[in-house]
Amino acid sequence: METNPVQDWSTDYDVTDVGYQTNPYPIWDELRQTCPVARTERLGGSVLPTNWDDIAAVAYDTDRFSSRDVGVLPIPAESSTALIAPPITSDPPFHTEARRILLPFFSPKAVERLTVRTREIAAELLDVLEPESVADAAGDYAQHIPVRVITHMLGIARHDEPMFTEWAIDIFQRAAEQPELGRSTTRAILAYFEGEVADRRVEGRDDLITELLRAELDGAPLTDKHVLGTCFLLLMAGIDTTWSSIGSSLWHLATHPEDRDRLVAEPELIPTAVEELLRAYAPVTMARVAVEDTAIGDCPVHAGDKVLLPFPAGNRDPEKFERADAVVLDRARNRHFAFGIGIHRCLGSNLARMELQVAIEAWLERFPRFELVPGVDVRWAGTQVRGPREIPVDLRGAG
Ligand code: HEM
Repeated sequence: METNPVQDWSTDYDVTDVGYQTNPYPIWDELRQTCPVARTERLGGSVLPTNWDDIAAVAYDTDRFSSRDVGVLPIPAESSTALIAPPITSDPPFHTEARRILLPFFSPKAVERLTVRTREIAAELLDVLEPESVADAAGDYAQHIPVRVITHMLGIARHDEPMFTEWAIDIFQRAAEQPELGRSTTRAILAYFEGEVADRRVEGRDDLITELLRAELDGAPLTDKHVLGTCFLLLMAGIDTTWSSIGSSLWHLATHPEDRDRLVAEPELIPTAVEELLRAYAPVTMARVAVEDTAIGDCPVHAGDKVLLPFPAGNRDPEKFERADAVVLDRARNRHFAFGIGIHRCLGSNLARMELQVAIEAWLERFPRFELVPGVDVRWAGTQVRGPREIPVDLRGAG
């Protein structure tokens, strides 16, 4: 996108800037020291707290900061009421009920039941990689695992996987430059789920969409808008986030042979390492809308202002984490908020953790010496969900 280059990140930051998407950490470090709550007029205007405490304070304060618009990019006025995606776009008290309905599907027990299928998916993907060759750890592997798991849960057609993946890319990556595409894809996703809902009204199945149709809120079935919005959320929240995390974890191991070798030698460390990789490469930035004039730290915020919540920036705050910019695979104390904090904390965190652990374990078992192809530029992208979009790796690995 053609935009004016940023001269001053504290008053004019740009979340679509390629440099920001590629390596935002020095920018956040500088802001934390000079102007911990930055502002911009770009993309409809927003405010960007960069330290852990300020980000957490906004996320906890649901009275002053609403989730009615959680998108980092502005919603065009004509579509602002088109999509509700409970519970992520809801405030209390409705949020509490909308979230409660989904909790059982993402409990540790429910996730445990999905582990075997996830291992099978990882193995299927690894089976088709040529051991003597170069592969794209993002496009050939990371990208497929979460979409296959969530479509399995929703009970939607596995052969539509390429379309779901394109939809996620449209919504989280291409919409930044092509807002009309974002709108038409949103309509396409809702229309797709309308068809799925209609099928299940004729005959229920053993899947999450059928359970949503059976659920009640205040003694009444969920509205169609609620069911469709929740399906939209689960498909989108489940795909790009987790593939970005699996991708950045594999990118890290492909570029840090000492960490790769340690996990190969000590696979029991993988769950702890996954937490550290989530902290260091947290993918998700969310947004809130101020509902009254207030302040974040010393920075005044006005009613209607959009506030971004860059959880990845808070996760690198040196006030909260020793050696915040280093990846310490066995970091013992790790209060990261890659999954957010407060009432909207990620409902899929058990599932995401399981997928990450399975994906890394299976990959390392098969390709213990893989490494990034020398000399390639890995493209990191994403305004709301950041991750490496292609990761060319040599599966033989020299080191
Ligand atoms: C590594 C992977 C993931 C990361 C980093 C992540 C991150 C987040 C974050 C930061 C939030 C908080 C949103 C806010 O404060 O506004 C969130 C909420 C949510 N996530 Fe995830 N997520 C991941 C995977 C998943 C998966 C696999 C699912 C399930 C399909 C999922 C479903 C949700 C839902 C439903 C919410 C809304 C919860 C609420 O509003 O109460 N996420 N996620």
